[in-house]
Amino acid sequence: MKLKPILQKAYSEHYALGGFNFFNLDSARAIAKAAARAKKPALMMVTEGSIEYAGLDYLIATFEKVRAETGAEVFLHLDHGKNIELLKDCVKKGFDSVMFDGSSLPLDQNILISTDLRKYAHNKGAIFEAEIGHVGGHEDNVNSSVFKTNPAEALMFYDRVKPDMLAVAIGNVHGVLTTDEQLDFTLLAKIQDTIKAPIVLHGCSNRSGRDYQVAISEGVIKINIDTEIRQIFVESMHRALKQKMTDPRKILGLAEDQISKHVEERIELFAKGCCIR
Ligand code: G3H
Ligand code: ZN
Repeated sequence: MKLKPILQKAYSEHYALGGFNFFNLDSARAIAKAAARAKKPALMMVTEGSIEYAGLDYLIATFEKVRAETGAEVFLHLDHGKNIELLKDCVKKGFDSVMFDGSSLPLDQNILISTDLRKYAHNKGAIFEAEIGHVGGHEDNVNSSVFKTNPAEALMFYDRVKPDMLAVAIGNVHGVLTTDEQLDFTLLAKIQDTIKAPIVLHGCSNRSGRDYQVAISEGVIKINIDTEIRQIFVESMHRALKQKMTDPRKILGLAEDQISKHVEERIELFAKGCCIR
């Protein structure tokens, strides 16, 4: 099934898909296996940082191989695309979905470029995600302080750009969760009541089940998870080294299993959706 109807169904039936970042074979296989076991769709995302690290063609080939091997309903997504030529290249090479992150640009420029790129993506059958407001924190080449989305601006942006899904900033921050990071659900409700369209929430690692539920009840259909995967990978390495394991294949295999188990739980949780509203 193509991604668009899957996203529409999530929006109308109030549940969400996970967007999980991968950067190598082990992380890719972990996510695809999780989606296959759950028998539910998921987005597998690459950042520009991961493309710089592994190479675009390597990541595409890895994605295609693990999708074919597992039979999972997974979709390849460019996360936080800032380089316009690279984003177009991803579309040309068959990505199912791309995000243009113009959140650090002046609003009028973000609107112009996002509109052009939405047309470009749609012409080639790809889903398009845009962002308004700044998600704070640090993720690869994305570094910013929080600047919450204004609902009126979001509506103007949404009407002009017409993205398939819109990433918003409601106090969400990339990276390790801190105690003072509160999500502004009143603002999220206002944004949803204003734009009445599918929303993406970034910076969602390590949040409570209730946070995910409330977000989904306000129209969030894609929940982005990166830091959790990195943490599980690194913790797994530490544990293996402590146990004096010496076979890299076994060490990486353990990391893959741990990530896969965790991603499956996330997929199931987001798919349960919510009936809070
Ligand atoms: O784009 C990816 C996400 O926003 C990931 O956020 O690193 O806080 O999980 P996270
Ligand atoms: Zn993000």
